[in-house]
Amino acid sequence: MTLTIWIDLIYLLAAVAFIVALKGLSSPKQARNGNLLAAGAAIVAVGATFFNPEAQFSSHTTNLILAIVAMVLGAVIAVPVARMVKMTAMPQLVAIFNGVGGGAAALISITVFLQHSDSAAKPAVYTIAEVLLGLLIGCVSFSGSAIAFAKLQELMTGRPITYPAQQVINGLVGVAIVALALATLLTGSVTLMVITAVLSLVLGIIFVLPIGGADVPVLISLLNSFTGLAVAASGFTLDNNLLIIAGTLVGASGILLTRMMSKAMGRSLSNVLFSAFGSVVTAAGGADGTGETRQVKTGTPEDIGVLLAYARKVVIIPGYGLAVAQAQHTARELADLLMERGVEVFYAIHPVAGRMPGHMNVLLAEANVPYDELKEMDEANPEMATADVALVVGANDTVNPAAKNTPGSPIYGMPIINADEAEHVIFLKRSMRPGFAGIDNELLFNEKTTLLFGDAKDTLAKLVAGVQEA
Ligand code: TAP
Repeated sequence: MTLTIWIDLIYLLAAVAFIVALKGLSSPKQARNGNLLAAGAAIVAVGATFFNPEAQFSSHTTNLILAIVAMVLGAVIAVPVARMVKMTAMPQLVAIFNGVGGGAAALISITVFLQHSDSAAKPAVYTIAEVLLGLLIGCVSFSGSAIAFAKLQELMTGRPITYPAQQVINGLVGVAIVALALATLLTGSVTLMVITAVLSLVLGIIFVLPIGGADVPVLISLLNSFTGLAVAASGFTLDNNLLIIAGTLVGASGILLTRMMSKAMGRSLSNVLFSAFGSVVTAAGGADGTGETRQVKTGTPEDIGVLLAYARKVVIIPGYGLAVAQAQHTARELADLLMERGVEVFYAIHPVAGRMPGHMNVLLAEANVPYDELKEMDEANPEMATADVALVVGANDTVNPAAKNTPGSPIYGMPIINADEAEHVIFLKRSMRPGFAGIDNELLFNEKTTLLFGDAKDTLAKLVAGVQEA
């Protein structure tokens, strides 16, 4: 067997490992192993590329040195950033990594296009078509991800930025890009290619501007899918089967995740992308929580501690605030304490609780909460009516009954965890501020609800003490 066949075999094995790894990622128990398998396969595949005769590293030592320098630089930046990033900032990190992937695909396309335009032999039309596809999608993904990052990092407003005829203008820019790409294809003009690239960068920006911060995680998943497609196009350009397979896997899984997230919010993908959701804060309390005048019932940690200690069944509903407060360990401490006293406890996990898919699972796994204590929304909801206490820790939209009862509410139709069906509802939050969707939550004013204001880690620690004293 020739070296090329060996390399192709290694690529094939890596591709199979990526598919098995994706399967692993679908269950919390296997997710860590899945991740390790995918990372291992990627290392082997990249390593094999150095021996790939098609890469011609042995005859082009400058390229070899440049590739190694680029990899070392990338690792020096990415490894500490990924290790130090807070869980709440993970969506931004994914956005920036994703953007860099799209940008890399676009750069490959530009390089190959320039090589072809220099050579005397005219390349086949499909070759240039692949190049342009990678360029176009890669540029949209790069600039779109950069704006998504800026929104999430609060470098710019997270509210949708809208202007008249916005979608018409976006549509016209899209049509212009397709026309320019066709003209580039027919003429091979470098100038037209550059204009197509610049307009694609502009499209990425104007496509993302009207999408509000609340929907940006869904958008990032969609852009991730775009990057996958751009990488697959690069695979065709470079005649590299592994890039084609890996890119297609990213493209397909990104679009599936996008659909799942939209569904979990009870909204269509077009609504997420084009409705400028979140332009208006409808909560009476306003975004800062200072305008609400209605009375709510507050409790002391001691009273709530007694309620919890003598309950039969307590359901803990974690949300974004748990992540902000880093209260997962204290939540587990409280749950363990209650279970020692014979109380039945489980965690009810909403699919879009927090700011990214699996956010709550990852946090609770970090606190070593056993998987069998976590129940997905569909499994938890039938049990809510038999719960004595729903303990809502830093969650809001995901338990807001307006999603069931208020047609016209921006979250109407979103499936929620039915905290309102429990006998008592305890909310741990810092103020009357609304959740991510910016809308009031009637459950806060319900007579069965008691609020304990404060940072979730502090209030949970006080509840631990309250239960111990009960
Ligand atoms: P939210 O509705 O955003 O509510 C979080 C609550 O946590 C807020 O009411 C906030 O109130 C409280 N909070 C913040 N910091 C806190 C702290 N240190 N201690 C205690 N409480 C704190 O969260 P959720 O219920 O998890 O819902 C997630 C939202 O994100 C949904 O609207 C969902 O559609 C959206 N979203 C999620 C995803 C994914 S995949 N997860 C994707 C797109 C959109 P105070 O400020 O008063 O404390």
